[in-house]
Amino acid sequence: MNERLELLTAYPFERLARLKAGISPPAELAHIAMSIGEPKHAPPAFVVEALRASLGKLDSYPATAGLPETRAACAQWLRRRFQVNVSPEGMVLPVNGTREALFAFVQAQIGNAGGATRPVVAMPNPFYQIYEGAALLAGAEPVFLDTTAENRFQPDLNAIPAEVWKRCQVLFLCSPGNPTGAVLSLDFLREALALAERHDFVIASDECYADLYRDEHSPPPSLLQAAVASGHDRFQRCMVFHSLSKRSSVPGLRSGFVAGDPALMKRFLLYRTYHGCAMPIPTQLASIAAWNDDAHAAANRALYREKFARVLPILQPVLDVVEPDGGFYLWPDVHGDDEAFTRELFATQNLTILPGSYLARDSRGPAGAGRANDNPGRQRVRISLVASVDECVAAAHRIRKFLETSK
Ligand SMILES: Cc1ncc(COP(=O)(O)O)c(C=O)c1O
Repeated sequence: MNERLELLTAYPFERLARLKAGISPPAELAHIAMSIGEPKHAPPAFVVEALRASLGKLDSYPATAGLPETRAACAQWLRRRFQVNVSPEGMVLPVNGTREALFAFVQAQIGNAGGATRPVVAMPNPFYQIYEGAALLAGAEPVFLDTTAENRFQPDLNAIPAEVWKRCQVLFLCSPGNPTGAVLSLDFLREALALAERHDFVIASDECYADLYRDEHSPPPSLLQAAVASGHDRFQRCMVFHSLSKRSSVPGLRSGFVAGDPALMKRFLLYRTYHGCAMPIPTQLASIAAWNDDAHAAANRALYREKFARVLPILQPVLDVVEPDGGFYLWPDVHGDDEAFTRELFATQNLTILPGSYLARDSRGPAGAGRANDNPGRQRVRISLVASVDECVAAAHRIRKFLETSK
């Protein structure tokens, strides 16, 4: 067996199931799930129709590189959304959702894992769990950059010493962030890129929430824009990850793409050819329809905004919570044990959220500088506003009641 599998920690939802085990929540309240980041808005009818209309195309193997039309639609979206010119030939690749691509990219990228100096994969903390698993299975050491209210949930790039950056082969960034909702500025991204150049590593920028943001006049920037602003017009050292799951509420379609540095892309394509993860043609045709349309994504964004607008006035008088700049999560500070908060909320209100500490790792801070057992997700919880507006409002009332009666 691959002994690295032993290094993987239990996925947050396994731990959540254990936390809830044996509890009988009040049967008169219907269960509300706010733990998983699975969009629940109706998928756009035209995307479903495009999928249905192309089901006859199952009679041939799809190419790993995808259809030229798929790559073109992705490149055109990047141009409209971020004003960047990405060649559909060699700079774009369709992937079956960003999850598999984030994982696979690290496997393709990490070199010399058995050598004398262990490669590092750096990532924000808390983080999307795939980053850590990908690093461990590739034989790299995960290094965590805590994102806390004190640093406005921006990873502190200066907290890692130069000798660690020297071992770094991949830096994960996530903007808008899961779970914090923080957006990384163009200046931050340029700083990260300068560091990547100095220490010769690659940035994997997870931008799967890029189309869900608060301010219509200031959409979150992409690492690709930072590359152009820094004179890297071939996106050297950059790989960005985009998805239709959140943008178009089609998590079941399993569709996204990667874009960036053609030298990285060439190797990644080779890896994927052997891995065997070409996107089915019907999925590609439905994806083209989705990437070509921005109106449904704007409507989707508006629906999340409505939820924040309805839910926050109910919660803010009793909970330390702010509206995030992007994404669809609330990340409140519960000023107490996040596991106990989650368990009691479920036990009394039949409402499931996720303890923040499950999404982060204990971090000893910069280079082991003494902050033992500091889990930056501790005392926070993640609340996904994925259900309908009415359900989210009902959930907010339950949380408020829970807090008012537990005082
Ligand atoms: C930060 C982040 N990255 C990636 C993903 C994976 O999304 P998908 O594989 O559906 O594109 C998720 C899903 O929850 C996520 O939250």
